[in-house]
Amino acid sequence: MRLNKYIADAGICSRRKADELIACGNVKLNGAVVREMGCTVEDGDVVVVNGRKIEAESKVYVVVNKPLGYITSMDDDKDRATVAELVADIPERLFPVGRLDYNTTGLLIMTNDGQLTYTLTHPKHEVYKTYVAKVAGVISDTKLARLRKGVDIGGFITSPAKVRVIKQMPRHAVVEIMIKEGKNRQVRKMFAAVGNRVQALERTAIGDIRLGHLMEGHYRKLTKKEIEYLKSL
Ligand code: URA
Repeated sequence: MRLNKYIADAGICSRRKADELIACGNVKLNGAVVREMGCTVEDGDVVVVNGRKIEAESKVYVVVNKPLGYITSMDDDKDRATVAELVADIPERLFPVGRLDYNTTGLLIMTNDGQLTYTLTHPKHEVYKTYVAKVAGVISDTKLARLRKGVDIGGFITSPAKVRVIKQMPRHAVVEIMIKEGKNRQVRKMFAAVGNRVQALERTAIGDIRLGHLMEGHYRKLTKKEIEYLKSL
């Protein structure tokens, strides 16, 4: 296996970052610093990164249903609850794939597969993320059309989105919105751009990976089929 893949597979960092570590002389193979990119690792080889021996780690993939008031981070300087606490009984150190706002609930993938995290969060990566938003007021057909076509969220025009009104009540609407991008607070900003404030936001799917009936604060392991699907994206 190539050295950069071995390092990424051990959950240390992405493959690209591993290349940087190698180029900077921070990686030793069987006691000697290696700087060649194409270097491979054989069974029984000892790889040391930044002075620490690394072991090939088994990969774990879970879907978490993030509750309100949890931050998508491994620790917090303000002592708020973090999503790491939701998977605390899993011995491997799992990292969130992308972010959900403090006030957003729903589907968050967590894994120690650095390569998959890197690919899925790369801006070029195009997979629909589905959200269900409860918004104040009425979503008219004109607003729907604007949201679908693209709106200005402060110097950035959003790409075409799939949007449908699930339920229109006198004072609020429940709307499903599917977007491929992941700008900071994008869904909230998109609704703000058409004059509707988001009162509650839940992510229900990433591509074909669905939250289903997973209870808030709980996690489930992804199935083999789901893992293969994510890797194929
Ligand atoms: N869009 C938002 O506004 N918030 C999220 O957490 C995710 C998408």
